[in-house]
Amino acid sequence: MELLRAHHETARSRLPQAVYDYFAGGAGDEQTLAENVSAWRDRWLVPRVLTGVGAADPAVTLLGARLASPVLLAPVAAQRLLHPEGELAAARAAAAAGSVYVLSTRATTDLADVAAAAPAGDRWFQLYVGPDPAAVRTVLARAAEHGYSHIVLTVDFSVAGRRERELRHGPVPFPPGVGLATHLGHAAADTAKPPVGGWRALSWDDVAWVREASGLPVLVKGVLTGEDARLAVDAGACAVIVSNHGGRQLDGCLPTAVALPDVAAAVAGTAPVLVDGGIRDGGDVVRALALGAAAVLVGRPYAWGLAADGEAGVRAVLDALREDTARALALVGAGSPAALTAAHVRRRP
Ligand code: FNR
Ligand code: LAC
Repeated sequence: MELLRAHHETARSRLPQAVYDYFAGGAGDEQTLAENVSAWRDRWLVPRVLTGVGAADPAVTLLGARLASPVLLAPVAAQRLLHPEGELAAARAAAAAGSVYVLSTRATTDLADVAAAAPAGDRWFQLYVGPDPAAVRTVLARAAEHGYSHIVLTVDFSVAGRRERELRHGPVPFPPGVGLATHLGHAAADTAKPPVGGWRALSWDDVAWVREASGLPVLVKGVLTGEDARLAVDAGACAVIVSNHGGRQLDGCLPTAVALPDVAAAVAGTAPVLVDGGIRDGGDVVRALALGAAAVLVGRPYAWGLAADGEAGVRAVLDALREDTARALALVGAGSPAALTAAHVRRRP
C-alpha cells in the first residue's frame, strides 16, 4: 500500500541507521522476514460475484469486545526511539480507531501512563516473564489495576534471535532521558538490566501461573503448529496468536500464512486464533480472516507511521488498513468477516 510505503520511506530517512535497523530487521539471513510478506501473496483471493453485497463492515467481536477494525497493534518494544510520544501516541491512535493496543513489556513508557493517555481504549499487556517472579507479579497486578484486560504471553523468546543488523551496529542507541520502563511504578536500579522484560525458558505450566498471578485471561503469542495451539488451550489460554515474532527469532521457520490453517483447524471453535507477520494491506487481512483468523496484528506498519507522523501517522495506518479491508471484503463478496470461508483463498500451485 502506498501510504505504508511512504511512511516506511520517511521513517528510513529520519531515523538513525541503528534505530531503523532495529525495527526493520529480522534474524539470520532474514528469510522469514521476507517470506512472512510473500506467503500471503502466494494465496490468491477468490471473489464471488452477484452476492448482493455492497459496502462491507470489517468490525469483529473478539474476546467479548466489539472492535471497529480486525487490525490490532502488535506489541513493539521501545517506541520512544521512533517518536518522542512513543507508546502514548500509538495507544491514543488505537483507541481512536476502535482497535486494541498491546503494550510491550519492553516499552519506553510505564503502563500506567499509557492507560491514562487513552483511558477508554482497549488495551492488553504483553509479558516477557523474566527471572524474578515477585517483580513479574507486581507488574501483572499493576496491569490489571490499570485496566489492561488481557495478558499476551510471548513464548518465542527463550533466547534472542541472531539479529545480524544489531550485531553490526552494537546495542540500540537510546537518546538521553529515554529508557526501558520497569512497569513497577519506579525506576530500576540498573537500567541496563530491567527486573522485568528479560527472558527465560518457559513451559506450559507458566500459562496457568500467569493467569493466576494476573487474574486476567491469557493469550499465547508465538504458536506455529496445531499441536502447540491445542496445548495452549489445554493449559488455559483464552486465545492463541500465530506469530514468528516478525521474523526476528528463528530464521527459516514457517511463515505465518502457512502456519495459520493448521492452527485454526486444531482449535477452531474452542478459542479464537489471531495472526501477525507481514500483513501489509486489506487483501492480506482478508486472506488471514478467510484462513481462520479472528483478527490480525501489525507491527512494523504502525512503527513507521509513528516515526513519520506520531499519533496521526499510526491513526492513518489503522484507518487505511480498515478501509482497505472493507473494500477487499466487498470485492470478494463478503459483507463481513464472518461471511468469509476458506474458499475465498486459493494457494498458488
Ligand atoms: C517486535 N515484536 C515484539 N513482540 C513481543 O511480543 N514483544 C515485543 O516487545 C516485541 N518487540 C518488537 C520490536 C520490533 C522492533 C518488532 C519489529 C517486533 C513482534 C511483534 O509483536 C509482531 O509479532 C511482529 O512485528 C509482526 O510482524 P510485522 O507486522 O512487523 O511484519
Ligand atoms: C524484539 C523484542 C524486544 O523483537 O521483542 O526486539
